[in-house]
Amino acid sequence: MAASETSTSTPQENTTSRARLLVVDDQPIIALLLNQIFLDDYDVQIAHSGAEALTYCKTWLPDLILLDVVMPVMDGHEVCRRLKANPLTRDIPVMFVTGFTDPKEESIGLELGAVDFISKPVNPAVVRARVRTHLKLKFQAETLELINQTLESRIAERSAELKTAMGHLLQTEKLASLGSMVAGITHELATPLSNMRLAATSLTEYVHKVKTDIKGGALTRSGLERFITFCSDTTDLIDRSARRSEALLLSFKQVSVDQTSERRCHFDLRKIVEHTVHVLGPTLKTTPYKLITEIPPEIILNSFPGAIEQIITNLVNNSLAHAFPERTEGCMIIYAQLAGDLLAIVYTDDGIGIPAPIGLRIFDPFFTTKAGRGGSGLGMYTVYQLVTGLLGGTIEVGADGGCGAVFTIRLNYSALQ
Ligand SMILES: Nc1ncnc2c1ncn2[C@@H]1O[C@H](COP(=O)(O)OP(=O)(O)OP(=O)(O)O)[C@@H](O)[C@H]1O
Ligand SMILES: [Mg+2]
Repeated sequence: MAASETSTSTPQENTTSRARLLVVDDQPIIALLLNQIFLDDYDVQIAHSGAEALTYCKTWLPDLILLDVVMPVMDGHEVCRRLKANPLTRDIPVMFVTGFTDPKEESIGLELGAVDFISKPVNPAVVRARVRTHLKLKFQAETLELINQTLESRIAERSAELKTAMGHLLQTEKLASLGSMVAGITHELATPLSNMRLAATSLTEYVHKVKTDIKGGALTRSGLERFITFCSDTTDLIDRSARRSEALLLSFKQVSVDQTSERRCHFDLRKIVEHTVHVLGPTLKTTPYKLITEIPPEIILNSFPGAIEQIITNLVNNSLAHAFPERTEGCMIIYAQLAGDLLAIVYTDDGIGIPAPIGLRIFDPFFTTKAGRGGSGLGMYTVYQLVTGLLGGTIEVGADGGCGAVFTIRLNYSALQ
């Protein structure tokens, strides 16, 4: 019979090995007949009982099983059930070969996971076509699975590469910002240091001249008075320059907060804000401006209270320094809101506001509109570093000029538990 059929190819024949077929039937004549049908195209094995079929599957995994339903001891349904329960064999397509044409019988088989039914007596052309179709489907599914796995591993590879690249980028960015920081420090410190040097040199030269005048008896009273005035002006200049350098060094120190040495602990947000406002009290008292806090109670964070204090201090000092020029009244508000996982801390003042061009550069190191007048431009840079680094959040500036400044800090509440 097999000789009269046209030879058919399977996906596996296109590659290296032939597809494997397991024929399970307790009637030798049927098993032989099926063997004859498939012999030319597939590797066929025959099992004469359910137990024998299961034993085969332990060492010889077929690509498809043709399974008789009615067999003594273990029927086809039970064999199918066991095959589907085993992760090694559950994906092998099972086609029942049955003498019944009972639809109930068919639905039991389908529920058990069979892919098809062949009725006895078998029609070689039909059984061959169906086997071919199911094998094709199986191989396509396997190919898809393989492509899927390759894609997944490629995605994982690419993600890892991207992560490394991002790490490098971050490192480069950090180095670049460190570089610009060092350049800034050098630039900022250069002026007070050279002032001090100049003052010291002039003083030394003047002292030398006065000494010579004394020796030669040429020092007059007015000459001495001029010398004393010069000494006083010069030491004043040295003192101011030294203070400026000290203030600059303090700002630099704040920028380079060491994340590991910062104190981490559980604290109540409201208490820390109130404490900071208390510390700022004496400074605020010398101004006509008001600071209001509206922080809900019981927001407990496991984080860095020192960072929160520093942020609030810098924001308040900025309002005092920049927001109310020539104004006799002004108000600053700090409020917080907890919504699900988002903790927002908002700081506002009703001062002159921050125009968009300043808003765009406000977090840059050394950006200040008070250059040469006490501003180092490190206050908001420090705030940015603390919020995004130590606290792992984001900060946004309301850049609409004219309606006061607004800074919104967003933190992930559950990450700070
Ligand atoms: N509340 C505010 N209202 C208006 N302008 C502000 C406000 N806060 C900051 N600015 C602007 O942002 C600039 C940068 O602020 P930043 O705190 O970084 O530096 P600074 O205050 O000038 O100097 P310092 O480093 O001494 O704090 C300020 O020079 C100012 O122009
Ligand atoms: Mg400032």
